Amino acid sequence: MSTRSIKAPTLKKATKDLKLAGKEIGEALAEKARALGDAAMARVTKAKRAVAKSSSQTQRKIETSARKTTLSVKRAVANAEKEVKADFAAVRKTASRKVATLKRSASQEVDAVKKSVKKTAAKVNLVADRKLAELKASGTGTPEAIAQLTGGSEFMGFLAQARDEGRDPLLYEAPIVAIFHSPTKSVTPKDNCVIAATTMGLFARTLGLETTYIALFEAAANAHEPLKKELGLPEEHRVFSVLVMGYPRVKYLRAVDRKPIKTRWE
Ligand SMILES: Cc1cc2nc3c(=O)[nH]c(=O)nc-3n(C[C@H](O)[C@H](O)[C@H](O)COP(=O)(O)O)c2cc1C
Repeated sequence: MSTRSIKAPTLKKATKDLKLAGKEIGEALAEKARALGDAAMARVTKAKRAVAKSSSQTQRKIETSARKTTLSVKRAVANAEKEVKADFAAVRKTASRKVATLKRSASQEVDAVKKSVKKTAAKVNLVADRKLAELKASGTGTPEAIAQLTGGSEFMGFLAQARDEGRDPLLYEAPIVAIFHSPTKSVTPKDNCVIAATTMGLFARTLGLETTYIALFEAAANAHEPLKKELGLPEEHRVFSVLVMGYPRVKYLRAVDRKPIKTRWE
């Protein structure tokens, strides 16, 4: 090892120079550090800006795509609505067409039923009219004839009361009931029967018997089905006269007064 002695002033100056150099170096270092810091700050700012830019771009992209998506969804919804509306309109059209067809066929059926009812009613009326005409021609059995015979409900009441009391107001418990019937299609069925009944009545009197015409039974025999069945008349026959016959319980001493018969002699 070697040593060198240095004089004090020289050392002082050297120290001073060293201090100066150190200061300069320090300043230069500080300057460099500042520059580096500034550069770093500039880069950070740039980076920040870039980040901000890219995030706003991304946001814009997201917004744009969201808008697009919203639009396409709206469009899809509008299309779907249109399709549904079109389907609904088509269904309604078909349904109304079907309803119209059904209505048409129903009204056709109703018309057919009405027609057949009318036809049947016309037939029934025809038969009823024919029957009524037959009844009228025979003079018995019509409601009018029965009402005329019975004098209405008062007489019917009297008949019912007599029946309820155990009497026989129709045939008077006669031992014989003669029923005169004839084919309805013969020319004078009523006259034939009445002539036969009258002849029988006149002849019966010669034997001490008496007779009475019973128009009530005649009407009942022609109008009341069970009675018609019970009598068992031939087909197309009707009752035209009825007589009850028996020996009289009372004997009249004289005949009742009669109004003079209206006769015209020419
Ligand atoms: C066509 C005819 C139908 C008669 N029907 C009935 C009768 O259903 N019931 C009855 O009690 N008498 C009947 N009679 C008898 C009448 O009521 C009456 O007693 C009879 O003709 C005698 O008549 P006169 O009262 O004028 O003498 C009938 C008489 C006729 C001529």
